[in-house]
Amino acid sequence: MSAELKAGAAEAEQRLSAATDLDEVRAIDADVLGKKSALTAAKKQLGGLEPEDRKAAGMAINEIRQRLEAAVAAANDRLAADARAAQYEAECLDLSEKLSEIRRGSLHLTTQARDRLEDVFVGMGFTIAEGPEVETAWYNFEALNIPEWHPARGSFDTIFVDLGEPEEVMLRSHTSPVQIRTMENTEPPIYIVAPGRTFRTDTADATHLPAFNQIEGLVVDRGIGLGDLAGTIDEFVKSFFGGEVKTRLRPSYFPFTEPSAEFDISRPDGSWLELGGCGVVHPNVLANCGIDPEEWQGFAFGFGIDRLAAMRYQLDDIRELVNSDVRFLRQF
Ligand code: PHE
Repeated sequence: MSAELKAGAAEAEQRLSAATDLDEVRAIDADVLGKKSALTAAKKQLGGLEPEDRKAAGMAINEIRQRLEAAVAAANDRLAADARAAQYEAECLDLSEKLSEIRRGSLHLTTQARDRLEDVFVGMGFTIAEGPEVETAWYNFEALNIPEWHPARGSFDTIFVDLGEPEEVMLRSHTSPVQIRTMENTEPPIYIVAPGRTFRTDTADATHLPAFNQIEGLVVDRGIGLGDLAGTIDEFVKSFFGGEVKTRLRPSYFPFTEPSAEFDISRPDGSWLELGGCGVVHPNVLANCGIDPEEWQGFAFGFGIDRLAAMRYQLDDIRELVNSDVRFLRQF
């Protein structure tokens, strides 16, 4: 009997390992381990055996039962894993093509230049300040020592905003109003730079944009003079461009600084590029902000970020910065 059962079990094991679905396994399971199986029948017959035969036969039956149960479990596991894999396969979406189409974006060139400038100035001990893009005449002109009658007002090509208010309102024509806003609510010593958008009635051409970016610098401390200004400009230009670029100051005029200068940086071909204006903060400007000019002195500078980027990346036409042509932008 035991030999017959063993042969049956071996055959069942083969069928189980060849089974291709769970229903088949269930059928085999019932066949070899169920109520009507040869194994169950053999177990029922144990009672009619001699006690010593009974023990051996019982052990043999148990062993076969365990073998078969393990084989059924293994078949179930295998087919369940197969079924899961098949389901995953059927339900998964192939996105590989889509992923290859997605390009990683990058920061705009102007933003990169601005970030870099901020880093350079923060490294020199400055903090970043900000102000609104729409200003009143007080901040854009008057507090900066440019009263209404002053001819310098005309040179700023200002874009006015008609809000019907008693005060004149305009898009700021430079970042210098941030000097005033900072001094109004900060006690000296002050070391700030203020990057931001500025606006003038200029027509866009290779070197001008009607909406452009400036960065303003302001230092107010004791015993500050022109030498500190020149040194600061030279240091930031050297860290922004690298050691070879030279700087120079040329006498100029701004109502809010005295003395005033224009500052230039040297191009690789030896010519000079005008970058911005600077000077020692005019005592009237300090006084307008409630700072005692007898005690505190300062310097300020302001220049175009777009121009700086154009120079650094050798752009022939500054309008590239606003054309949003991805073929151009991708290069940076
Ligand atoms: N605001 C001036 C301009 O836009 C530049 C400047 C800033 C000059 C600070 C002197 C001091 O032309």
